[in-house]
Amino acid sequence: SKVLPSNADARGTVEACHASLRRLGTDRIDLYLLHWRGGVPLAETVEALEGLVSRGSIGAWGVSNLDVDDLAELPEGALPQTDQVLYNLTRRGPEYDLFPWCRERSVPVMAYSPLEQGRLLGHQALESVAEAHGSSPLQVALAWVLRHDDVIAIPKASTAAHVEENHAALDVRLTDEDLKALDAAFPAPVRKEPLEIL
Ligand SMILES: NC(=O)c1ccc[n+]([C@@H]2O[C@H](COP(=O)([O-])OP(=O)(O)OC[C@H]3O[C@@H](n4cnc5c(N)ncnc54)[C@H](OP(=O)(O)O)[C@@H]3O)[C@@H](O)[C@H]2O)c1
Repeated sequence: SKVLPSNADARGTVEACHASLRRLGTDRIDLYLLHWRGGVPLAETVEALEGLVSRGSIGAWGVSNLDVDDLAELPEGALPQTDQVLYNLTRRGPEYDLFPWCRERSVPVMAYSPLEQGRLLGHQALESVAEAHGSSPLQVALAWVLRHDDVIAIPKASTAAHVEENHAALDVRLTDEDLKALDAAFPAPVRKEPLEIL
């Protein structure tokens, strides 16, 4: 059967990157991610990404939506700069095995949809902690994601006010008591959970 061309095969990876560079009007992308796993062998995509690094089109490469078994399939010695995964108070699965895998290899995790696309609003536990800090519930949700030094959060915001509010989450210091209250309302995983996507 004929294999369809893909943005992740040897040629497609390079072409998609060059098309992105043109659209962005730049000659270099600092960090370029594989969005998710498709039918192309990971080794083929990684080789193409490393070629882009060596030619200076990208500064580094990373991956997204790869669970631990996918990460384990990456070619020997080829570590992504990050794995961008769905992670927030209501999606704690990655803490069980993905975080330890990444931490052991010094790969920072990038949390996408850290606000669960706004659906975290209205949770009582979050509101109580927020009230105690004089902050907003979404700031607490972000501070919670950022409680680990090796986790990055990429909240999407379309207004300057939201961007400023989210940035100020860096100043929210959650106490052990806050973390306990949040654990009670949003339990940590106790077994392997397949990586969720949005
Ligand atoms: N790798 C992947 O497969 C994948 C999948 C999904 C998303 N992502 C990425 O993850 C990033 C964020 O994810 P997301 O947009 O799905 O969800 P999100 O960041 O959890 O939530 C975004 C929503 O929260 C609202 N919001 C943000 N700050 C707020 C604030 N301070 N107060 C009130 N509402 C606020 C936004 O509203 P406004 O727009 O009105 O500010 C928007 O509706 C995006 O850059 C996206 O590209 C990646």
